[in-house]
Amino acid sequence: MEEVSNEMSLPWLKEEVARLKKEKNALIMAHYYQREEIQEIADFIGDSLALAREAAKTDARIIVMCGVHFMGETAKILCPDKKVLIPDVNAGCSLADSCKPEEFKKFVEEHPGYTVISYVNTSADVKALTDIVVTSGNARKIVEQLPEDEKIIFGPDHNLGEYINSVTGRRMLLWKGACHVHDRFSLEKILEMKREHPDAKILVHPECKRPLQMIADKVGSTAALLDFAQKDEASEYIVVTESGILFEMRNKCPQKTFLAAPAEDAECQCNECDYMKMNTLRKVYRCLRDETPEIIVDPEVAEKAVKPIERMLQMSR
Ligand code: 13P
Ligand code: SF4
Repeated sequence: MEEVSNEMSLPWLKEEVARLKKEKNALIMAHYYQREEIQEIADFIGDSLALAREAAKTDARIIVMCGVHFMGETAKILCPDKKVLIPDVNAGCSLADSCKPEEFKKFVEEHPGYTVISYVNTSADVKALTDIVVTSGNARKIVEQLPEDEKIIFGPDHNLGEYINSVTGRRMLLWKGACHVHDRFSLEKILEMKREHPDAKILVHPECKRPLQMIADKVGSTAALLDFAQKDEASEYIVVTESGILFEMRNKCPQKTFLAAPAEDAECQCNECDYMKMNTLRKVYRCLRDETPEIIVDPEVAEKAVKPIERMLQMSR
């Protein structure tokens, strides 16, 4: 098998990916947090809700999911007959890892009579223990469709759970999970940035801590933040989420200024998800060429996990 040499340029890789994609009837999907070179060649870019919706309706033979592992699993669960590939099988998610299936099962068993809502950032095993899956793009809409007195467990993202409780007036029981990127943005640094850019609006992902949600002009999923920026009249924004989203924001609104919220720690790129950035164009090329690594989900787990995902798709139409 031909090895990819260091000389292989970005234009060459882009051409080869385009050729292979056609030849193999493959669809390349990318999350907004992917590297620019991947967003440039993707057939579809979206937030986790849009990626799940698009996977459910594609007729492609192969799906290349440029995102993290749970996104590949969600696509595979929705499309068991398709081959779902992921450029780097080690692209995990600290939030999904903060909810171990055995611990979550125990928590659910300790609270009989509760409806279990899980964020899409979970493993297939956790989804199999769930009644309804949600994403940050539809969590509010779905929770509001349930009776007001319904007892709800919400996991794993504690910050998103607090946000949904605050906007719906519910008192869902929250699992204490968090994303290592969103949970680390600092209120002080963002307020400092706002003092330097007083006219900038603050856009915050609901995986960020509650004080950040409270100073935001808009709290929303990556797609909702993008949509807000396109329709809003301001010309400058402080973007408090993973910095990959800036690529699409600048593409869609070239006349506006988007400032990446500073990382908590000057020593590290904390506003970048190291898991998302594990995928590279070279790895996309290799995985399409060799049709590996492939996402495999135990069919028994998939049979249980598909129900709460389908329920989400129905409730968020
Ligand atoms: P959304 O794509 O739903 O905004 O979620 C952000 C995220 O952290 C994905 O891992
Ligand atoms: Fe997971 Fe956070 Fe990375 Fe999203 S940004 S994939 S929630 S670790």
